Amino acid sequence: MHGTPAEKRLGTTAHTFVTPVCRTGRICKGRGQRMTTMSEDHDIPTRGSSGDEGGWFAASARPSPAGSGAARTAPAAQTTDSGRTRERPLTPTPEPHPADGVEAVPLPPVAVPSAAEIELIQQTLAEIEPVANAVTSHFYSLLFVRNPQLRDLFPAAMDTQRDRLFRALLTTARHAGNPAVLTSYLSGLGRGHRKYGTRAEYYPVLGECLLGALERFAHFTWSPAAETAWVKAYTLISQIMIDAAAVDEQRAPASWQAEVVSHERRSSDTAVITLRTDQPYAFRAGQYTSIETPWWPRVWRHYSFAGAPRSDGLITLHVKAVPAGWVSGALVNRAQPGDVVRLGGPAGTMTVNHRSENGLLCLGGGTGIAPIKAMIEEVAEYGRRRLFDVFYGARSAHELYDLETMRQLEAEHSWLSVHPVVGDGCPVRASVLTGQVPDVIRGSGHWSGHDGYVSGPPGMIRSGIDALRDVGIPQERIRHDALDELAFAGD
Ligand SMILES: Cc1cc2nc3c(=O)[nH]c(=O)nc-3n(C[C@H](O)[C@H](O)[C@H](O)COP(=O)(O)OP(=O)(O)OC[C@H]3O[C@@H](n4cnc5c(N)ncnc54)[C@H](O)[C@@H]3O)c2cc1C
Ligand code: HEM
Repeated sequence: MHGTPAEKRLGTTAHTFVTPVCRTGRICKGRGQRMTTMSEDHDIPTRGSSGDEGGWFAASARPSPAGSGAARTAPAAQTTDSGRTRERPLTPTPEPHPADGVEAVPLPPVAVPSAAEIELIQQTLAEIEPVANAVTSHFYSLLFVRNPQLRDLFPAAMDTQRDRLFRALLTTARHAGNPAVLTSYLSGLGRGHRKYGTRAEYYPVLGECLLGALERFAHFTWSPAAETAWVKAYTLISQIMIDAAAVDEQRAPASWQAEVVSHERRSSDTAVITLRTDQPYAFRAGQYTSIETPWWPRVWRHYSFAGAPRSDGLITLHVKAVPAGWVSGALVNRAQPGDVVRLGGPAGTMTVNHRSENGLLCLGGGTGIAPIKAMIEEVAEYGRRRLFDVFYGARSAHELYDLETMRQLEAEHSWLSVHPVVGDGCPVRASVLTGQVPDVIRGSGHWSGHDGYVSGPPGMIRSGIDALRDVGIPQERIRHDALDELAFAGD
C-alpha cells in the first residue's frame, strides 16, 4: 500500500514541502519555501509599512480608503437612470469596518507554477478523474494511517468532507498559475480552518499524502516534472492558507461559544434563532457564520446573519430545516434557549459597497432574504440612502416567511421597495409577482444604475447572476453569497 517513491518519502526529515514553521511552532510569516529562523520575523508590519501592497496588514491599522471616511462631503440629491430621486445622504459614509479589508492576504513570495507546469497538473487531473473516488479514499487512508491524531479533527461521517477537501485541493492546484484569483478564496479557507484545529505544521503532512495519492493513480502522467509542478502548486496554496490564519490569529479567536437566547418558529420548517457570543464578534451585514451544534460534533454548516451588528452584540439567524438535514434539523427542531453552539469567524463578501453611488438591486431566495434584511438595516443605520430594490422569492406565498418584516421595513424607509415573487401556479395576492426571480428580473427593465446582490440556494445564485448581467449590471458590480464550491472566472 505504501510502496511508491513519494509515499516512501513520508516520515523522512527531507519533506518535499518546507512550510515555514519555526521551532516555537509559530509561523515564520511570508518566507515561502525557504526555512527561516526565529530571528527573521514575527513582526507583522501594517499595510503600507513595507511601502507597497505586499505588506502585511492588520484590520485595526488600515488607513481609510481614499475619498472615504467621516470627513467626506455628502453629495447632493441626484436623479437616477430610472427617474427616481436619490435622497441626500443623512449620515456620512461609514468608516471602514473592522471586517473590511481582511479578505485576502498578499501573495506569499513562493514560486508560482509556470504555464507548462499547470499543463502537467491538468494532465494528471485528467488521468485520475475517472478514478477520483479511489484517489480520494487513498488520500484519506494515507492521511489517517500516518497521522492518526488528525482523524479527530474530522466528523465521524466523512462522506461529504471527502469530496469537498480533496476536490478543493485539485481545483485550486489547477488554478495555481493565477494565484491572484486564488488568494481571496484561500485566505477565507485558511482563516476558516482555524476552527477545525488545523495547525501550520499539518499542511506539509497533508501535501505528502496528496502526492502519494496522485503518484499511485496517475500511472502515465506522473513524472519528476509533474511532481515539481504539484509541489509548487500545493506550497503556494498552503502558504496562502497558513498566512491568512496567522494574520487572523492576531485579531480573533479560532471560534466562539454562543448561547441560544431565543428560538422562534416562523413556519413549520423555519426558525429565527438569536445567539449571544462569549466574546465580541465583529461582522458585517451580508456575511455569514459557520456553526457546530452539540448534537453533531465537528459538523459545520454556514448560516447568514439576519441583521446588522447590534449594540447588545446579539446575533440572529434564520434557519430552514431541509429534509433529513443534520444541522438545520437540529437547529430548527431541537435547539432551545440555553443550548450552546460553536461559531466560526464571519466570512463572505456580499457586503454593501458604501463607496458606490449606485442603487442596490437584491435578489433573495428563501432564507437568502436574511442577509439582505441585514444589509437594509446597515444602509438605514450608517449608509447613504440609496435606492434599494429587493426581489424576495419563494416557491409559495407560505414560504415567504419574513414578508411581514420586509413590508414593515419598506413602510419605514422611502428608499426601499420590496417585490415578493412566488413560483408559477401558486395562489397569490395581487401584490405578489409570479414566476422565478431571475425571469421576473429580466422582465423588469434595465438596471445598469444599480449594484447587484444575490443570496439563496446555489442554483438561484447562478441563475440570479446571469439575470443581473442580462439587465445591465456588469460582473464586477455583482456580489453574491458564497457558492458552496469553487467557482473561478473563466471556468
Ligand atoms: C454562504 C451560505 C449561507 C447560508 N445561509 C443559510 C441561512 O441563512 N439559512 C439556512 O437555513 N441555510 C443557509 N445555508 C445552507 C446551510 O449551510 C446548510 O447547507 C443547510 O442548512 C443544510 O445543512 P444540513 O446539515 O441540515 O443538511 P445536510 O445534512 O448537509 O443535508 C441533508 C440532505 O439535504 C440536502 N440538502 C442540503 N441543503 C439543501 C437545501 N437547501 N434544500 C434542499 N435539500 C438540501 C442534501 O443534499 C442532503 O441530501 C447557507 C449556505 C451557504 C453556503
Ligand atoms: C493542514 C491540513 C488540513 C486539515 C487538517 C484540514 C482539515 C479540515 C477539516 C477538519 C474540515 C472540516 C470537515 C467538515 O466540515 O466536514 C475541512 C474542510 C475543508 N477543507 Fe481542509 N484541511 C486541511 C487543508 C486543506 C487544504 C490545503 C484545502 C484546499 C485547498 C482544504 C479545503 C477544505 C475545504 C474546501 C473544506 C470544506 C469546508 C470549508 O470550507 O471549511 N483543506 N478541512
